[in-house]
Amino acid sequence: MESLTLKDAAATLEWGRELGRSLPANTTLLLFGDLGAGKTTLVQGIGEGLGIGDPIVSPTFTLINEYFEGRLPLYHLDLYRLNPAEAMEINPEMYWEGIEVTPGITAIEWAQRLPYKPPSYLEIYLELAGDRARNVRFNSVEM
Ligand SMILES: Nc1ncnc2c1ncn2[C@@H]1O[C@H](COP(=O)(O)OP(=O)(O)O)[C@@H](O)[C@H]1O
Ligand SMILES: [Mg+2]
Repeated sequence: MESLTLKDAAATLEWGRELGRSLPANTTLLLFGDLGAGKTTLVQGIGEGLGIGDPIVSPTFTLINEYFEGRLPLYHLDLYRLNPAEAMEINPEMYWEGIEVTPGITAIEWAQRLPYKPPSYLEIYLELAGDRARNVRFNSVEM
């Protein structure tokens, strides 16, 4: 695991922008962390780094938001309201398998709700470390 500290929301956005500028197509990000940990904020930065002009809004109610105007498509999922059986019904694997979708960046909030995982992914754990600081641990997993 690598770790870093993001001292405020601007730092989280900036790290997201870096990821959005550099991650290759077919990257799946599994995001872990409590409500308010900064998962959506990070994905907002990723959207900016990809060159998406539309605001990235939380998919807590829509479950999946798709954005196609950037360097790569961004697929943003939030499984907070789902149990693993329900999460399976939305077929998250179609994003990482790239079946009938253009390969892009898939970012999944509340990834612990997934009943199965992609063959390779970047796992990112965000943790509150005070009012504004967040500790991040991340790791690339290849099966
Ligand atoms: N270092 C930080 N990183 C991310 N968000 C932060 C940070 N410090 C404060 N915040 C605030 O915390 C909230 C995080 O919300 P959000 O990104 O929606 O979290 P989550 O999606 O994990 O529930 C936002 O209001 C954001 O402005
Ligand atoms: Mg969120």
